[in-house]
Amino acid sequence: MQVRFLPGIPACVFMRILHFGDIHFWRLQLDRDFYYPKRILGTANLALRRRHRFPPRLAWDVMAGIAAEEADLVLFSGDMTTMSLEGEFRDAARAFVPLYEKWGERLVVIAGNHDRYSPRSVRLQYFEKHFPRAALPEGRRVFSRQAGEHVSVVGFDASRPFMVRSNGLLDENLERELNSELEAAGGCGRKVLLMGHFPYSYPGGSPGKWHHRLLREEVLARVIARHQPVAYLHGHKHVRWCLRDTRTPRTLCLNCGPAGMSSSSPDSHAGWLTFNLSEDGSLTGLEKVSMAPGGDLLREALRIPPALPG
Ligand SMILES: [Fe+2]
Ligand SMILES: [Fe+2]
Repeated sequence: MQVRFLPGIPACVFMRILHFGDIHFWRLQLDRDFYYPKRILGTANLALRRRHRFPPRLAWDVMAGIAAEEADLVLFSGDMTTMSLEGEFRDAARAFVPLYEKWGERLVVIAGNHDRYSPRSVRLQYFEKHFPRAALPEGRRVFSRQAGEHVSVVGFDASRPFMVRSNGLLDENLERELNSELEAAGGCGRKVLLMGHFPYSYPGGSPGKWHHRLLREEVLARVIARHQPVAYLHGHKHVRWCLRDTRTPRTLCLNCGPAGMSSSSPDSHAGWLTFNLSEDGSLTGLEKVSMAPGGDLLREALRIPPALPG
């Protein structure tokens, strides 16, 4: 188990948390593994479509907007790049500098599937090289951070390269590691926030697309039902939402939506989530924030569904 204590969390009755992800810095470049099937498809998609949906100016404006926010804890749930090119990681690392300067260890970062795009980019450890504070010890995929006296953040990395698809995988090793980390993190009555990249539950109970979902997502639902973290924070599907799943009635599922995408829908347009977490684990004041053209921030309260019986 890897536990680090986060300095500078005030001894207050609640902490304010900012959650963002899917900023997707991109570069239209070839790497030496240009022949990898997903790279061919990804490069064509980026050239034709995706670069218009993720304007670089917007990503930088959003990072500046986040850096100006007040929060005790900032959580990033993955997809800082588009194709795990080293230039993309370099851009992302530069954009994260003001956030690390402001929050230091209180900024917690995990990788998404776009940050584990090809076997070569994983082997060369671009993510770990450019985000050393987010690197895990060899062979580990789960970590804990203790935030103040009453809260633990548990993060896990289910992202790995697939030849053409955008899945994640919660394999048996990861399941074991996650169970033991959650067991320890929730000791002494501590409240746990769990952060991964992929959803296991979708609005309306509809299943995720076969080529885009977390493989063995039902196992994640079982792990969460067993340990009952206050909330499961994720991104991946580029829509902001808050829901409860009947399989995990005590845990709120929060999708922060994309930080870097331009959309006519406010829930898919560049933004993030903020909320308060009290010592007793009450999650209140949930707001979705999006960046209007011109840089103004639109804040809207998001209804929190009550805990379900079970
Ligand atoms: Fe994404
Ligand atoms: Fe993703």
